[in-house]
Amino acid sequence: MKKYLFIVMFSCFFVNAPINAAIYKGQKVFTKVCIKCHDSGQSYVAKKTIYQWKKLMRKKGKPLKEIHLKDKKAKRAWKYFASSSYTKKTRHLKDFLVEYAKDSGNVPACN
Ligand code: HEC
Repeated sequence: MKKYLFIVMFSCFFVNAPINAAIYKGQKVFTKVCIKCHDSGQSYVAKKTIYQWKKLMRKKGKPLKEIHLKDKKAKRAWKYFASSSYTKKTRHLKDFLVEYAKDSGNVPACN
């Protein structure tokens, strides 16, 4: 039992710590921006496959940006999607989305 706990703790550490700076940065964008409108975080990410996310995040996230700019319900996000802070971080955001996509086999641990 103790040993099991150790393994769990260790794997949490392993998953979380060096995780990959890009994924961490992407997660920060996601929790700061996307969660406002899309239901809670990771479960939303897991609705799409790696392929689907990659497609949405092509060309610095252009397809994703266009979906939002076309939809009046996303009006609150227009400024964000049109800004350079979106384009600058799409690479990280994509890494995060792909990392936790439906078919990635990854489940965010311990947070
Ligand atoms: C101001 C609210 C708002 C914000 C912020 C926002 N979205 Fe959206 N999003 C919408 C609306 C509204 C739609 C279009 C209606 C729909 O399909 O849900 C949409 C559509 C989408 C779609 C396509 C629909 C689907 O589920 O296939 C994806 C993917 C998506 N958003 C991801 C994101 C990501 C990733 C972020 C963060 C960078 C984000 N959204 C930020 C409101 C928002």
